[in-house]
Amino acid sequence: MQYEIEVGERVKREIKKGRQVFSVNWIKKIEAEPGELVKLKYNNNFLAWGIINPKDQYHYIRIFSYNEDVDIHNDIKEKIKKAKEYREKTINYKNHYRLIYSESDFLSGLIIDKYNDIFVIQNSNAFFDKNINIIKDALIDVYGKDITIYEKSIGKQRERSYLKPIERFIYGNKYETEIEEVNKKFYINILKGQKTGWFLDQRENRKIVNQLYGDRILDVFSYSGSFGIIINGEEKYFIEKSKESISMLYKNLKLNNIENYNVINGNAYRILKQFYLEKRKFDIIILDPPDLLAENYEKGIRSFILINSIALDLIDEGYLITFSCSQDLNERKFYSLIRTLIRRKNKKFEILYKFNQALDHKVIFPHKELSYLKGFLIEIKK
Ligand SMILES: C[S@@+](CC[C@H](N)C(=O)[O-])C[C@H]1O[C@@H](n2cnc3c(N)ncnc32)[C@H](O)[C@@H]1O
Repeated sequence: MQYEIEVGERVKREIKKGRQVFSVNWIKKIEAEPGELVKLKYNNNFLAWGIINPKDQYHYIRIFSYNEDVDIHNDIKEKIKKAKEYREKTINYKNHYRLIYSESDFLSGLIIDKYNDIFVIQNSNAFFDKNINIIKDALIDVYGKDITIYEKSIGKQRERSYLKPIERFIYGNKYETEIEEVNKKFYINILKGQKTGWFLDQRENRKIVNQLYGDRILDVFSYSGSFGIIINGEEKYFIEKSKESISMLYKNLKLNNIENYNVINGNAYRILKQFYLEKRKFDIIILDPPDLLAENYEKGIRSFILINSIALDLIDEGYLITFSCSQDLNERKFYSLIRTLIRRKNKKFEILYKFNQALDHKVIFPHKELSYLKGFLIEIKK
């Protein structure tokens, strides 16, 4: 069945501006199976192909193509080729990178991360659920046959789109590999790892912190230890609650011949409070928590203030590297919270650097929501 929807002037303007996602408030609601293609028309003229999901009120229509005679396989293949060229040629990311970042690569709802020859798909678009083999074939066309493709379509975004969680090998069966960043090696396990296996979004930030040195370094919410390993220092502390992440952290410490370390498997809030009672001090503290605001904004802000506040108490003179990956906490609010906290503690500070998400996580107009990661390198003085 061929679906068609006539849209209004406002939607036409937004489509022309580049908007790729429309909620039910924008476009007439029709009955259709999630993931069907819909011809969007204005004054009976073709505007774009959209993908419909009547169950998902926020992503009711996702724009797929402006070409009326679109060949789906070829379209996806060309988008992957273009995305690869940007990563490998323009920004010079070689073996591992985010290949597809949703609207940024004009494949709304689709994420594909690459770790050498392993590709991990995270999808929340019903159309790609139905046409996963087209994505598989397009990846093979662009990267060759010697690859593995794993799908890890799980999490909140999927739930919100009323799509069932999917975790499976689509092609090949390799699940571990090793990557290198700033001359350090890291073990990747796409089955045990969080997200698609590695926090690719912190790549540029890891290059920056590699310039720092501290005698005592504390990496809080460390996952598999990237920051603590990359920052130069004498003694390194890691705090992480997930046992699986800790097992990868031990592998990474070994891979990089780091011997003077303390790994603490537990709740960061409790452990930092304990350190405070013990009057411990550090030269550099990294706070890279999960999205604290995802469940509840007010509660999340309280957790954010609490963890930053205790971390500040553990630094006399030194550096705090503090991140937020919450879309709902913008940079200005983040800065204002931190500034208030430091002033209350009667400490002086300088913001030395503002962190951002890596260049493969492009943010394109008008999709500002693609921007989420932010952070500060703060020098704390007496
Ligand atoms: C954003 S990730 C950190 C990524 C890491 N900095 C990196 O670049 O690889 C957040 C980590 O915090 C851990 N985590 C979440 N809540 C925690 C808690 N209360 N205490 C300790 N770790 C926690 C998660 O398991 C996850 O590994």
